[in-house]
Amino acid sequence: MTGKFITFEGIDGAGKTTHINWLVDHLRQAGHDVVATREPGGTPLGEKLRALLLSEPMHLETETLLMFAARREHLDKLIQPALAAGRWVVSDRFTDATFAYQGGGRGVAKDKLLALEQWVHPHLQPDLTLVFDLDPQVAAQRLAANSNAPDRFELENRDFFAAVRAAYIERAKADPTRVKLLDASQSPDQVRAQLQALLAGAALQ
Ligand code: TYD
Repeated sequence: MTGKFITFEGIDGAGKTTHINWLVDHLRQAGHDVVATREPGGTPLGEKLRALLLSEPMHLETETLLMFAARREHLDKLIQPALAAGRWVVSDRFTDATFAYQGGGRGVAKDKLLALEQWVHPHLQPDLTLVFDLDPQVAAQRLAANSNAPDRFELENRDFFAAVRAAYIERAKADPTRVKLLDASQSPDQVRAQLQALLAGAALQ
C-alpha cells in the first residue's frame, strides 16, 4: 500500500511551521511512518539549491527551473521511495508554491509551469494540500516580529504577496478536493481545529 502525500502552503508569515510539527506528531501517534520534508530542499543537492534560491538574485526563469530541478531530485531520492514504502510524506511546500510564487508573484506564464509540472511529475499530486490563507499585511507584521534575517522572498513587497495569495486561492478553487484553504488569521488553537476538521474530511486513513 502506498503512503499519503500532504503538503503545506501559504505566503511567508502565514504560520504553517507550528502546524506542520503538530501534524507530523499527530500522524506518528496514530501509528504512521512519517517523513517530514521541505521545498526547495529535502535532499543534499536540494538543500544546496535552496541556499542559492533564497539568497542569490537570478532571472525569474532560472529561479523557476531551479525550483523544479530541486523537486526532481526530491521526488527521486525521497518522496517517491517513501510513498512506495507506505510511508506518509509531509512537505513544507511543493509545486503549488511554484504556481503561486513564480507564476502569481513573478508572472511566469502558466503554460510554462504546466509544462514543467508535466515533465517532472506527470502522475503525482499531493493527496491533500493545506493552504494557510492570510492577509499579506498581517503576515508582514508576523514576519517583522520574527528575529530571523529575511530571505530573498520575504523581502518582497505587499503587492507581490497579494498576487501569491491570489494564485493560491485560484488553485484551491480549481481543485477544491485536493487544495483546502485555512483561515490563518485565527488563533493557533483555532487554526489547529480547522486542520483537524480538514484531515477528518479528507478521508486519508
Ligand atoms: P519557507 O518555506 O517559507 O521556509 P522558511 O519558513 O524557512 O522561511 O521558504 C521557502 C521560500 O521559497 C518561500 O519564500 C517560498 C519560496 N518558494 C518559491 O518561491 N517557489 C517554490 O516552488 C517553492 C517550493 C518555494
